[in-house]
Amino acid sequence: MNIKAPRGTSDILFDKADMKQFIEKTAVILFEQFGYHPIITPTFEHTELFQRGIGESTDIVQKEMYTFKDKGGRSLTLRPEGTAPVVRAYLENGLASKSLPLKLYYCGQMFRYERPQAGRYREFWQLGVEAIGSRDAFIDAEVILLLVTLLKKLGLKDLELHLNSMGCPECRKSFSESLKGYLANKTEHLCDDCKRRARVNPLRVFDCKVRGCQAAIKNAPLISNFWCEDCSNHFETVKGLLDDMGVSYILNPALVRGFDYYTKTTFEVRTQSLGAQNALGGGGRYDGLVEEFGGLSTPAIGWAIGTERVVMAIEELGVKLPLNSHIDVFVAAIDEARKKGFNLLNNLRKHGISADMDYAGRSLKGQMKLSNKLNVSYVIIMGPEELRKNTCLIRNMDTGEQSEMQISDITRWAKDTFKVRKAGFDV
Ligand code: HAM
Repeated sequence: MNIKAPRGTSDILFDKADMKQFIEKTAVILFEQFGYHPIITPTFEHTELFQRGIGESTDIVQKEMYTFKDKGGRSLTLRPEGTAPVVRAYLENGLASKSLPLKLYYCGQMFRYERPQAGRYREFWQLGVEAIGSRDAFIDAEVILLLVTLLKKLGLKDLELHLNSMGCPECRKSFSESLKGYLANKTEHLCDDCKRRARVNPLRVFDCKVRGCQAAIKNAPLISNFWCEDCSNHFETVKGLLDDMGVSYILNPALVRGFDYYTKTTFEVRTQSLGAQNALGGGGRYDGLVEEFGGLSTPAIGWAIGTERVVMAIEELGVKLPLNSHIDVFVAAIDEARKKGFNLLNNLRKHGISADMDYAGRSLKGQMKLSNKLNVSYVIIMGPEELRKNTCLIRNMDTGEQSEMQISDITRWAKDTFKVRKAGFDV
């Protein structure tokens, strides 16, 4: 039988799994420092949620959704993103009654039927935040600072923060009209999809990867020429706050993200260290989405990063993360000393020390080899001789030094030895 993981999915193993955990732990610490709370939503939702939320004419809804009928004949879709589900949960659970803005974070798999390539998968992981219930430009600055801080904490240095404002529905109306007029003269250069987009939702032509379409929109009108006074002022304030915080950005008036829900501030963080899929994360305001789903008019803003892409960038840049999957102590016990060794092992673990032992009947030599492979700091050796004396041997694997110690002194030794290392661990 030859069963392989489906195209565009993968098993996350060893170093990559350690890195993913580290990224998530680092993110959670930061999210909590910034006052965000976790939210967990289902992996699939009613298809209509994404059709309405993301927009019928977006690539995601048109081509990329994993949609299926369940046994009850309902149309369901594996979530392609996390924002629409969070807004659905906000409304369904009456979260508007909490003090606003409600600041939430999530971590989970997303699913998009895209052509797989490096950095683009059909199942991938996102970490994201959503702040619902504030139109204050300060919250825009906060979420952007949070994004940049997280990526910098992970050692990514070559970041480019692209910044734009998609304006409000009023600015968008005049912009769309102007864009429609512009594209009407370019029809023969557009692909069939874009011919349709140019009529129904001209903004989406910006998402098209076809060379002819990209060339056709090169001199297209830009949203920045259509900002109303309020949108313009809001954007100025956001930029000013980012300047004050020393967050550098590139103004990119052609940054049109691939969802219809965006309004006002939009942003994307890119890195030079990845190839075609160079966006590590992105987001923006979606001030109309809560209302679109039947709630009161409620401004909101958020972002998501793709964990696999962050892992790739970390590897590409050779960043060494202080991965914590390291075993501190290996208990190498043989023969009748194994029982005592097992006891000691679990006692160490009770005191917060990561420890392991052999479960494959290895000889003492084999266990020492394994300890080397595991890169442990210390090995505690116990054989029949030590068992008789109620002692053990402790070998420092870095220096090769070895000393004998009473079993009753081990916990104190371990606590003293590892306290320093653990306390010194700083994300
Ligand atoms: P997005 O830009 O579509 O935004 O996705 C965010 C990040 O997810 C991307 O920058 C990328 O790193 C990663 N990503 C997207 N598609 C794939 C894929 N096929 N394979 C691997 N990684 C991928 C959103 O999803 C919005 N919901 C963000 C947001 C939150 N806006 C407001 N709030």
